[in-house]
Amino acid sequence: MDASVIVCSGCCCGNLGKGYDEVPVYDLKSAWEKNAPTNVELTISGCLGVCGMRNVVVLQTEIGETWLGGLSTREEYDLIVEWAHKFSSGQVETTFPEELESLIFESLRPVNIIKPRLHAPTQISQGVAN
Ligand code: FES
Repeated sequence: MDASVIVCSGCCCGNLGKGYDEVPVYDLKSAWEKNAPTNVELTISGCLGVCGMRNVVVLQTEIGETWLGGLSTREEYDLIVEWAHKFSSGQVETTFPEELESLIFESLRPVNIIKPRLHAPTQISQGVAN
């Protein structure tokens, strides 16, 4: 089973100037480059159209999409990396990290991946736009 992790780094998500928490784009890309979970793709996208949900991640599996909003800590993003590894090796059957269940929300929007924006100094200095 294949999956995708789509992390928003758009006009609002990760924009410290607007009061949003940092999105650790560099660390996520680094985690995938060092030890990519097989059959789970990471995509950093621009605005996914639900800015009010603050720091959005979409997990896509064959079963469907799980939208998460309000991510604010490194630990939460680490849970997504951990889930991706477990998912790719068949160790979990859930379509999202269970610890993040409270961050799930329904979105009627289709996922429309666009060019991301860089916000935090680490994103800009590392040139992590994809
Ligand atoms: S910037 Fe992330 S949903 Fe708009």
